[in-house]
Amino acid sequence: MKHNILKIQTILTIATLTLVQAAFSSDLKKGQVIYQKNCLMCHGLNGKNTMANAANFKRGQGLFNSDFFLLQRIQKGNKACPAYRGILKEQQIFDVIAYIRTLHR
Ligand code: HEC
Repeated sequence: MKHNILKIQTILTIATLTLVQAAFSSDLKKGQVIYQKNCLMCHGLNGKNTMANAANFKRGQGLFNSDFFLLQRIQKGNKACPAYRGILKEQQIFDVIAYIRTLHR
């Protein structure tokens, strides 16, 4: 009996950790698809902006901020950068942030 409780506890701990990890990890592949659909037209295929004044991610412009700052920034929008609140879910924005960080070379 005691043994079973221990087993259940272990399983629950692993399940919780897996969920927490899933909630906090970003998916680069999904981020890339989101980028190509929503951001590419201004920020460019490889992050080199095609629209004047849009951040050049290839040079790391706008990326020297925390994920949480960028999340709020992308949700609210700024000047010609559209607001994505209600368009992209929080997790999708975290995915796209992870992706734009890979464009910095
Ligand atoms: C219509 C063109 C356009 C689209 C589409 C667009 N952006 Fe932007 N983005 C801009 C412009 C212009 C700026 C510079 C605005 C400014 O001066 O703050 C910018 C700036 C940024 C910055 C830098 C923020 C900072 O504080 O310097 C980030 C990050 C960003 N965009 C992310 C995104 C993401 C992610 C997407 C897609 C989900 C996206 N943008 C779609 C035009 C666009």
